[in-house]
Amino acid sequence: MCLKSNIKIKYLRERFFNSKLKELSGNILELGFGNGQNFQFYPSNCNITAIDSKIYYTQEFNNIEIKQYTIDNILPFENQVFDYIVFSFFMCSIKNQKSIIKEIHRVLKKQGRIVYLEHITSDMRFYRFIQKLLVPVTTLFFNKCSLFNKFSYSLKSTFKLETKVYIPNSIEPYEFGIWIKHST
Ligand SMILES: C[S@@+](CC[C@H](N)C(=O)[O-])C[C@H]1O[C@@H](n2cnc3c(N)ncnc32)[C@H](O)[C@@H]1O
Repeated sequence: MCLKSNIKIKYLRERFFNSKLKELSGNILELGFGNGQNFQFYPSNCNITAIDSKIYYTQEFNNIEIKQYTIDNILPFENQVFDYIVFSFFMCSIKNQKSIIKEIHRVLKKQGRIVYLEHITSDMRFYRFIQKLLVPVTTLFFNKCSLFNKFSYSLKSTFKLETKVYIPNSIEPYEFGIWIKHST
């Protein structure tokens, strides 16, 4: 989320992400909710828990419980509690992505899903090279955000792909994805 154009991100959210959030049901966990801009899209009959290390958000929703929590290696929930785990522009700030993905897997119910919109590593060698070069700069100046974000590679062993849309955009391509938990 470092170099993004707000117009492009707004379009991507509307085109892929917000409409999907409107279809969710059951227990939802949102990671790194930021200013809570996804909250308005969840159906009112969902139970949502939203966590972030910093809380700048004040508007209250009856069905959303906000927790201030810095995700390190552990998610503070029992096993198999959530139907969906949602995040947008969150994984780029996470160093130990594999541990968090393991935790996401643990707290999701069987057949639970991950729904995300993230900027990711480019599929073009030249842009990947630039992304890698820029990592020290973006992590230092953009809230630990890394342009070289390969988190979805780590989903392959324990999640099954349902939907993936790659949106090319030079050094900041995006990915909208839905993965289903497939092993216990
Ligand atoms: C780039 S913002 C994205 C906010 C929002 N999801 C959006 O789509 O605009 C990343 C958010 O993740 C939170 N975050 C980063 N690392 C975190 C961690 N280890 N634990 C909890 N929240 C974290 C930050 O505080 C920030 O609010």
